[in-house]
Amino acid sequence: MCGIVGYIGKRSVAPILLEGLSKLEYRGYDSAGIAVYNGSEIQVEKAKGRLAVLSEKTNGGQSVNGTVGIGHTRWATHGEPSDVNAHPHLSQSGRFAVVHNGIIENYIALKKRLESKGFEFISETDTEVIAHLFEYYYKGDIMEAVTKVINRVEGSYALGVLCVDYPDQFIAVRKASPLIVGIGEDENFIASDVTAILKYTRNIYYLEDDEIVVLKRDGVEIYNMDLEEVQKEVFTVNWDVSAAEKGGYEHFMMKEIEEQPKALRDTISPRINNGKVVLDDISLTTQDIKNIRKIYIVACGSAYHVGVVGKYVIEKMCRIPVEVQVASEFRYCDPIVGSKDLVIVISQSGETADTLAGLKEAKNHGARILSIVNVVGSAIANASDDVIYTWAGPEIAVATTKAYSTQLAVMYLIALYMADKLGMVTSGEYARYVKDIEALPDMVAKILENKDELQYLASKFYNCKSIFFIGRNLDYAVSLEGSLKLKEISYIHSEAYAAGELKHGTISLIEEGTLVIALATGSELFDKTVSNVKEVKARGAVVMGVTTENQDDMDTVADYVVKVPQINETLLPSLTVIPLQLFGYYVASLKGCDIDKPRNLAKSVTVE
Ligand code: G6P
Repeated sequence: MCGIVGYIGKRSVAPILLEGLSKLEYRGYDSAGIAVYNGSEIQVEKAKGRLAVLSEKTNGGQSVNGTVGIGHTRWATHGEPSDVNAHPHLSQSGRFAVVHNGIIENYIALKKRLESKGFEFISETDTEVIAHLFEYYYKGDIMEAVTKVINRVEGSYALGVLCVDYPDQFIAVRKASPLIVGIGEDENFIASDVTAILKYTRNIYYLEDDEIVVLKRDGVEIYNMDLEEVQKEVFTVNWDVSAAEKGGYEHFMMKEIEEQPKALRDTISPRINNGKVVLDDISLTTQDIKNIRKIYIVACGSAYHVGVVGKYVIEKMCRIPVEVQVASEFRYCDPIVGSKDLVIVISQSGETADTLAGLKEAKNHGARILSIVNVVGSAIANASDDVIYTWAGPEIAVATTKAYSTQLAVMYLIALYMADKLGMVTSGEYARYVKDIEALPDMVAKILENKDELQYLASKFYNCKSIFFIGRNLDYAVSLEGSLKLKEISYIHSEAYAAGELKHGTISLIEEGTLVIALATGSELFDKTVSNVKEVKARGAVVMGVTTENQDDMDTVADYVVKVPQINETLLPSLTVIPLQLFGYYVASLKGCDIDKPRNLAKSVTVE
């Protein structure tokens, strides 16, 4: 939920840290800070608020001199957003500076102990404990101090540590919180993710838990907890720098919405060969698939909504029971999951704390884990038996769009792949399905040509106090996502309801002028949803229908109708979600909201 950058080299470090942090600001944006060794001491500059405040305070970094330093952008967990709670945190004497992502679970006990030894705490953070612990354990050998600190702290952490006594190096450590090392020429980096350092290098080390890194100008040493040196392979990132830049767009969200056809193509094409779905990435055999008793889908947020689509699709196509659970519930519900079950874990970042914990819970029960992940080498990818990567590229806007769409595409591929192995589809159906999946990128591109229509509709409704989404089955699954998209970036209250459930209470909220967005695409349930549209209209609602080109009946009941091309009905969520993303975006834009960085949210939720 926070972002870390560190640098050692020959250039002035502060501007590099600020620039790196600007690429990570989506991870947390309530305060920021940097610590730089300035030749005699560690200089710390921090500021509450957006990174721009820190940048202004330090004159774009020009007022801080030095060539080694660490930086942090924060999403508050322990203690309110403030200058004092912002990272880096200094140890009592100022010998150590620490930046930290994650949570130190035993920090209260450690704090008490350190206080009894005379340490004074100035912040409310758990992180300050680490800075003081370093000082407490430091007897002249920093590596000895690192191992002692790590042995004492419980929880998750990615750390960057600067020490006055070691002006030509800094230390990084990772446990259950993302951290990568960037290798340059006579300069080296750490970062929470590659976007922060792409401008300088694409050569990366992905760190494992409990690895300790010593970064110097001319090299990087990586050690395990026993301080034995570890050899790692260099990974070359193939994203280009522009992937993480706005490239002329006002917001990353719109850029990412528009990138969906490409992201879908990149995700789908390598997995379809000669009309066959090829999932080389996974090792599930036909027998494994036949042996599956039940499938669980575990995820958070929009990834969970992909799971809701997945349930309908897999159950329909494979006739295997599927249970979708929000990860924060799954991890604590003592799930009845075991070795005969497949658990599909979905995560863009691959680092969502609850999703990772759910994965571990399932694994402990002996279940097999198949994950759908966007970030290569992330914790969830590493902990899974099989991974299918979505090739969406870096997603920066907090509200996901292209990651959601590519996760859906992977879900279809998995469903079709399994249905085929189970003998549940005829060759004709299979061929049509493959053709339709391949057509998705172009269809999405076509819908995106109609952006003006959604902008117009947004202009009519951006003053609404409350907006409801209704639909049945797959349309309900997409309603959930449409409603989340709208509320998270526009701050308009919104709820998604299974259309038939509305009248069991929530319909009492419908009054004259309330906007109801009704998704009705499935042919079998179309008429049912149309009846629900009539019910809400009879109570004063204004209805925006979302349906397919061949469904004219919607025009007679709804006030406004948005149409998407006709395609295999199972795949329609990939199309109907696009106008909803656009609607949310334009509403938020008209309201003047901070679209890429909505209040209180963070892109990667690495804490419970
Ligand atoms: C946050 C993001 C959402 C995302 C969810 C799960 O809430 O704002 O966009 O869907 O986390 O994240 P993941 O990285 O696991 O997909």
